[in-house]
Amino acid sequence: MAEGRTKVSLGTLFEKMGNGEPITMLTCYDYPTAYFMEQAGLDILLVGDSLGMTILGYDTTLPVTMDIMIAHAQAVRRGSPSAWLVGDMPYMSYQPSIETAIRSAGRFMAEASCDSIKLEGGVEVADRAYAIASMGIPVMGHLGLTPQSATALGGFRVQGRSAAQAKKIIGDAKALEDAGVFAILLEMVPARVCKTIHERSSVPIISLGSGPDADGQLLIFHDMFGLYPKFTPRMARVYGDAGQVILDGLKQYVEDVTSRDFPQRENWFTMRNSAFKELTELLE
Ligand code: KIV
Repeated sequence: MAEGRTKVSLGTLFEKMGNGEPITMLTCYDYPTAYFMEQAGLDILLVGDSLGMTILGYDTTLPVTMDIMIAHAQAVRRGSPSAWLVGDMPYMSYQPSIETAIRSAGRFMAEASCDSIKLEGGVEVADRAYAIASMGIPVMGHLGLTPQSATALGGFRVQGRSAAQAKKIIGDAKALEDAGVFAILLEMVPARVCKTIHERSSVPIISLGSGPDADGQLLIFHDMFGLYPKFTPRMARVYGDAGQVILDGLKQYVEDVTSRDFPQRENWFTMRNSAFKELTELLE
């Protein structure tokens, strides 16, 4: 655990909400990044199935399995013992039945020491959310642009721009809250819709591209640091171009090896003369 940090709990998150203190949340998929996020003091880390796109290079999140998610969640927990860890339920890990949903959620808790899980959808998954929460597993809801349904939603685009769509999302938020979720993530809904849900909600609302009137903010790590080569969404704020730093370094490495500038004396290891003499004799 990073110095000065204490474990983030549900109490911490609700206290922040009560005090009007913004909750900080980022996606995280691996040990070193989790380590840095632990040092930086992030409240919530989401092991998102977006790793299917950002880490594995698929065009959608659909190919991601529970086994893949568990391996990444375990790595993130090793890097950040104190953040509130959310395991993202991948495609078909909760849709088929309530039992499937409880078993998948349980795996995040038992095998990866997650604190909670997240699932996509509103009214249609409220029974899953209720069942999982009833088993003592905190559930985060996810509304608006829900990537597992991107095809049905017309692609990766803003959701809830029409009054009818917005009313549906507001109803979904109420259904999730009634089902016992501890928080709701709103992805790419108009800021006014987010504000309306925030005003009506008694659980923390986290905004991803949904404006400032929420209890917390989420970004996708790879978007913040130029690490997703296909595109950077408008909603992201870019904090550095790590992708360019890495590319420059890789080009330099190719040049250094090609020109025999690498390795230098400090990059290799020696052997005592006596041992080398002995080896030479052994080889004769
Ligand atoms: O998988 C993920 O990272 C997510 C975010 C896009 C909210 O679900």
